[in-house]
Amino acid sequence: MTEYDEATAAASGPSLDAVLAQAHAPAQLDPNAPPVLTVRDLEMHFPVRSTGVVRRKIGDVKAVDGISFQIPKGGSLGLVGESGCGKSTAGRAITRLYKPTGGSVEFEGRDLAKVSNRGLKPLRREVQMIFQDPYSSLNPRHTVGSIVGAPLRIHNVVPKDQTLKRVQELLEVVGLNPEHYNRYPNEFSGGQRQRIGIARALALQPKVIVADEPVSALDVSIQAQVVNLLQDLQREFDIAFLFIAHDLAVVRHFCPEVAVMYLGKIVEIADRETLYSRPNHPYTQALLSAAPDVKQAAIGGRRERIRLEGDVPSPINPPSGCHFRTRCPLAREICAKVEPPMLQIGPRHKVACHFAGELGQHPADPVTARILGVDNAGNPDPGASPVELDDQPGFSDVWFDLKARTTVKP
Ligand SMILES: Nc1ncnc2c1ncn2[C@@H]1O[C@H](COP(=O)(O)OP(=O)(O)OP(=O)(O)O)[C@@H](O)[C@H]1O
Ligand code: SF4
Ligand SMILES: [Mg+2]
Repeated sequence: MTEYDEATAAASGPSLDAVLAQAHAPAQLDPNAPPVLTVRDLEMHFPVRSTGVVRRKIGDVKAVDGISFQIPKGGSLGLVGESGCGKSTAGRAITRLYKPTGGSVEFEGRDLAKVSNRGLKPLRREVQMIFQDPYSSLNPRHTVGSIVGAPLRIHNVVPKDQTLKRVQELLEVVGLNPEHYNRYPNEFSGGQRQRIGIARALALQPKVIVADEPVSALDVSIQAQVVNLLQDLQREFDIAFLFIAHDLAVVRHFCPEVAVMYLGKIVEIADRETLYSRPNHPYTQALLSAAPDVKQAAIGGRRERIRLEGDVPSPINPPSGCHFRTRCPLAREICAKVEPPMLQIGPRHKVACHFAGELGQHPADPVTARILGVDNAGNPDPGASPVELDDQPGFSDVWFDLKARTTVKP
């Protein structure tokens, strides 16, 4: 069993019913909402240095290796994948806790990835983060009032004598007792601490929140309450979310669109219904088959789990071609030679796989060969005429029909 299987089996199972029974109705997609955030070819590489006196750079940890997507205004995109695939790093690069090493993050006509530290301050107000661990992300020596009030002070958004009043309003909004502003984090439960983290993220009235595993550390019943709270806040304040999680059931509930990450790359991205019922990437199919609550739909009514062999390779030396090829049951010669392009295969569905197809219907020949101008083994084909792919972060009105192997324009 991989680490992911175990985590999923432990975290899901009976827990899901409880979560969903107490949660609001699933959030819905507004296909006409304009994008509020456009992430294009985002890269976050960390240098690896040799030991010794002269610490030379000997490689890179390619934690995030060229990901693209859009988040619609007031909408939510889920980001899922195994531990270590780069989800938190992507969140930190988007909120500029890290300076991205490549790509862009467009927000209201500015590129968050390139803006100087000085220019960043006003943008920070608009794009906030809720952190993965409510236990370590709150300074134990500061009172709740000081933690939630810090962004207000730093950004000078309310006069000093009104900070306390605003902090109390925020505590009330997230369902905490406003009189508890003088208490310390250790006087609160896990769920309450996560509410403090949410109040802190809300203080500056952001338009986008990157929520990094906001409910993973919480008990099941508390998970539902916090998911409800986030949905209420999203509706009330029109906040767009990048919702990072490994629990596929919670993501399905909160996010009308979902992106699946593997070893620094997005391998599939689609609207919820398509992704959960007709995943086309072998990795998505395996992930869904390992999640007890979503298994049946994901594997077309069959209940077996698709087991992934081996461990996730290191992001320092990812496999050539397709990063997933060392664990993929469908891998062939072309997968080692050529990186599969991100191909739009439906109105809101993109996948990066040479053999994309629904479970049990993967094609015998690579669907990408002609497009890329290579033969079926991935060798350059001198007679071929490669197709110029439109690799924009959002979805196009034109896509590639896998069965007909032609571009369709409905
Ligand atoms: N500051 C850093 N320097 C070097 N490598 C890093 C750094 N931060 C993260 N990494 C590496 O980048 C990869 C992605 O890490 P990240 O924390 O983003 O994964 P994740 O998908 O959030 O995992 P989890 O589900 O466990 O939270 C890992 O291999 C990690 O070791
Ligand atoms: S490109 Fe090849 S190795 Fe990668 S997921 Fe598709 S079939 Fe598997
Ligand atoms: Mg993480």
